[in-house]
Amino acid sequence: MKHDSQHPDSHTSDGINRRTLVAGAAGTGLGVAATLGAQFATEVRAQERAEEALPPLQTARVGFFGRRQAGVDTPPPAHASFIACDLNEELKAADIERLLRIITADAAQLTAGRAPVVDQEPELATIPAELTVTVGFGEKIFDLVNPAKKPGWLKPLTAFPQIDQLQEQWSHGDLLLQICSQDPLTLAHAQRMLLKDVRSFVTVRWVQSGFRNAYGSSQQGTTQRNLFGQVDGTINPTSQDETMDQFVWGSHEDLEPWEEGGTSLVIRRIHMNLDTWDQADRPAREDAVGRTLDTGAPLTGESEDDVADLSATTELGFPVIAPYAHIRRATAQNPVEHILRRPYNYDLPVSNASGFSDHGQTSGGVSNSGLIFCSYQADPLKQFVPVQKRLAELDMLNTWTVPIGSAVFALPAGCSESGFIGESLFS
Ligand code: HEM
Repeated sequence: MKHDSQHPDSHTSDGINRRTLVAGAAGTGLGVAATLGAQFATEVRAQERAEEALPPLQTARVGFFGRRQAGVDTPPPAHASFIACDLNEELKAADIERLLRIITADAAQLTAGRAPVVDQEPELATIPAELTVTVGFGEKIFDLVNPAKKPGWLKPLTAFPQIDQLQEQWSHGDLLLQICSQDPLTLAHAQRMLLKDVRSFVTVRWVQSGFRNAYGSSQQGTTQRNLFGQVDGTINPTSQDETMDQFVWGSHEDLEPWEEGGTSLVIRRIHMNLDTWDQADRPAREDAVGRTLDTGAPLTGESEDDVADLSATTELGFPVIAPYAHIRRATAQNPVEHILRRPYNYDLPVSNASGFSDHGQTSGGVSNSGLIFCSYQADPLKQFVPVQKRLAELDMLNTWTVPIGSAVFALPAGCSESGFIGESLFS
């Protein structure tokens, strides 16, 4: 399974493929229809030419409407903000509906590069830069609106005492807004617009901001690197075969989506200790994961896409990929244990940066860095938890990493232009 490299242009904001429109209009038949069709085609082509002349991010829209929400299997843009909110105490089901309608209306406008009506800085809404807004629900939304629809897995993950040092400030939440864009200014504006519009319903619980390689810094589809310098995201479900449908959207016979077009998101904030990582030499770093640092190839192969041979041994009979190597421990042990990893790096400023952060310490030293580890799957209990359990028991990477936040959300299906995100809870 290779990282998904689908281009966002295939996801049109208006749900209409412009080239299909041109072809359709040009072939409308005789007389007036033909003339109108030709005129229409010319206009569409002229608009296309005008758009082609613009800087690419000004027209890079990811469609908001559809049977699934964008921001899951669409290519991850360079910047992301994950915002967990808590619902205000007095809210009723009707308030939640109003809240979701507002979020839907704002998100539809902003992702199309248009300013919502009450936008006081409408100029900041004009560069969509692949903006996506993805909505997730915590338990309380179901409890208030439709308890019968609450997925059984929607609760805090079981503890992983060997590794967890969870902090409340990065955990849980009633409502998630995941906002991604190639342009940090577009993202900041969308975040402020959405939060302004929902502030009478919710209180922000935490915000996690993350980044990946900048737009244009590598070929489309190149797997990103994390702050350990590792190629991170090689083995993943993809839309190029059936794996994305099976494991993220739940079409696999042993899985079931909580609702058609819905999925789940587990967010683990994982501190990465770069000070102690500095002490490990290159062979030790590669041995810890089971892949090389330069190309990301498995230690038994030549290139990133080579399949890791977990049975290969050295001349002395030791496994080439160690028993404690991250990829050996993380690899699926049954037909459904596949997750979509869509991580973002974080790197917070450290005041008075000095000294050294020891093993297991999550502060001090000269950096405060890590991964916003986002895992999408149809069923966290069947897919994410067994992998995390194995890694908690044994994984050499634990020497340098500490989970400090944890949250689980149900992502509802997408909606049509006349609907709103989460509408199925109200029917
Ligand atoms: C800071 C924490 C972590 C780092 C730095 C990290 C890094 C990596 C790297 C470099 C790879 C190899 C390349 C690839 O396939 O992407 C990998 C693979 C993988 N990781 Fe992680 N990872 C972390 C946490 C996790 C967690 C928490 C999970 C799940 C609970 C996980 C699940 C996986 C899986 C399923 C694979 C693919 C395994 C296979 O080869 O089949 N990782 N990770």
